[in-house]
Amino acid sequence: MTPIHLPGQPQLAYRHHELWLEQVRLADLAQTHGTPLFVYSKTAMLAALAAYQSGFQGRKALVCYAMKANSSLAVLQVFAQAGCGFDIVSGGELERVLAAGGDIKKVIFSGVGKTRMEMRQALEAGIACFNVESEAELEVLNEVALSLGKQAPVSIRVNPNVDPQTHPYISTGLKGSKFGVAHERTVATYQRAAKLKGLRVVGIDCHIGSQITQELPYLDAVDRMLDLVQEIEAAGIALQHLDFGGGLGIDYNGEQPPAADALWKHLLAKLDARGFGERQLMIEPGRSLVGNAGVCLTQVLYLKPGEVKNFCIIDAAMNDLPRPAMYQAFHKIVPLSLADQAVPSLPWEVVGPVCESGDWIGHDRELAVAQGDLLAVLSAGAYCMSMASNYNTRGRAAEVLVDHAASFVIRQRESAQHCFALELLPDQAQADSTC
Ligand code: LLP
Repeated sequence: MTPIHLPGQPQLAYRHHELWLEQVRLADLAQTHGTPLFVYSKTAMLAALAAYQSGFQGRKALVCYAMKANSSLAVLQVFAQAGCGFDIVSGGELERVLAAGGDIKKVIFSGVGKTRMEMRQALEAGIACFNVESEAELEVLNEVALSLGKQAPVSIRVNPNVDPQTHPYISTGLKGSKFGVAHERTVATYQRAAKLKGLRVVGIDCHIGSQITQELPYLDAVDRMLDLVQEIEAAGIALQHLDFGGGLGIDYNGEQPPAADALWKHLLAKLDARGFGERQLMIEPGRSLVGNAGVCLTQVLYLKPGEVKNFCIIDAAMNDLPRPAMYQAFHKIVPLSLADQAVPSLPWEVVGPVCESGDWIGHDRELAVAQGDLLAVLSAGAYCMSMASNYNTRGRAAEVLVDHAASFVIRQRESAQHCFALELLPDQAQADSTC
């Protein structure tokens, strides 16, 4: 029987009515490890990376995986071994890079609120670049670097004032956003950076938003950024690298974002036309490298048909899959087995056990389900586990990495004890008279 592939999910297919990821039957993993369970395909991650690498063939380019999308150590190791650098946003993420064996010299540090301690940690480790987001941050970074007798490599994140046409919570490159230095302040900020002895200007950076499915906002942002590069260099400050951020969207529900290689062919043509094609390029993709490489397996706990709505209550919840509650995001939900379709297909509100009306995973989904059935929530490789919480004292799910026919538990399921391991009762705690 020929496998039935799911659109946008290259490693996911029904074979003999059962859902497989690569050469592993997902029901077997659910049986062995329990649910909810995140499962990732190594092949899918490497294929997503290969699309960028093919777009950059023959260029000086570094892919810095934005690890906030999925920062599990095994995922980081996959990308580190494939030659990636990392885009980090905290000291914690820096520690993860080191724990996963990443190359610290390929790390760039983004984010609007780096602390002095994080700056020190990153300077001592020897990262490639700080993407500085404000004039105030520039001054503090200079002080910290001087106190260590070092020079901090910096790039300034510019806000190009371009609308990425995505969800407002994940738009970052518009005026009025907290991110980046305003276009009109950029040259002055570079001039200040160039005067500070603790800093070494190395590049320029921009990131306009996430889940971008159109090419145009990228082309606009590149143009606006190159205009700035010309102005900055005319002021006598050389920029070695150009960093275009991340943001490329994925197919959650029929979206058709440009393929990474096609997008980069067009962007590189623009860079070539303007004489910047030879520069060192950096990018910071997150979602597009992992989003469609992962699924979340879950079991139907109860069915609760009703007059107004039918509820399908599953064992995964908003603490495991926060995107629907946070952004009204759509994730496809499919059965692990098509074999027993004796039950009628009905529209279901697919919800979790958390005590909030906002705890929904899918509205109005046509499914033929029975109590105890196993389902897969698709496109769950990015911004799911990395944003998971312990709300309702629910331990976070386990994770499995699939590589062809092999599967590896890469994170154990959290117990309730893990959730409150760091908590103290007042009669056990040492009294602290200063509080
Ligand atoms: N670089 C910077 C500076 C970023 O802030 C981000 C994402 C990225 C790169 C990676 O963007 P990507 O390639 O993944 O689009 N939690 C939201 C997405 C938040 C994105 C935050 N920044 C979601 O689930 O949709």
